[in-house]
Amino acid sequence: MATICVCPGSYDPVTNGHVDVIVRAAALFDEVVVAILHNPAKSGAFSVGQRIELIEAALGPLPGVRVEAFAGRLLVDVCRDLGAGAIVKGLRGGTDFAYELPMALMNRHLTGVETVFLPGNPAYEHVSSSLIKEVHTFGGDVSGLVPAVVLAALHDAMPHPQP
Ligand code: PNS
Repeated sequence: MATICVCPGSYDPVTNGHVDVIVRAAALFDEVVVAILHNPAKSGAFSVGQRIELIEAALGPLPGVRVEAFAGRLLVDVCRDLGAGAIVKGLRGGTDFAYELPMALMNRHLTGVETVFLPGNPAYEHVSSSLIKEVHTFGGDVSGLVPAVVLAALHDAMPHPQP
């Protein structure tokens, strides 16, 4: 039977850290569903359609990997519908673990689905979608931290402020 995992997130926008985790998940599972879900604590800068396009463009053709959005759904229900046995998340450090652990335990409590944590690439330890947007908005250079398509989208959506 095919092993299926879900890589969930807001992906607003996708970063090189996300791409690293998705590619590594694809080496461990037969199928990977990159799932864009709603995080009630965050407001989106990019539309869900844009996020899907950016992830697909960043990944390129990657066998067994697809990108989908699941508006208004619980992650565990998405996993059940997809037949996914695991959720895969990257951990940049202890702060991520503290944030992720309650969600992993809640998800297991709800349906028994397990969460697999992959250690993040240290090269991207300081990279989050929120920081990328903030640094870019105030004129900082985030090239090398996000895929080239995301860099272009940031320039289109959030031009640097004029001095
Ligand atoms: O990239 P993020 O914002 O850290 O991802 C968090 C996300 C979207 C995976 C989380 O908020 C989520 O699972 N949202 C879907 C609704 C849900 O299942 N909430 C209960 C989580 S225990």
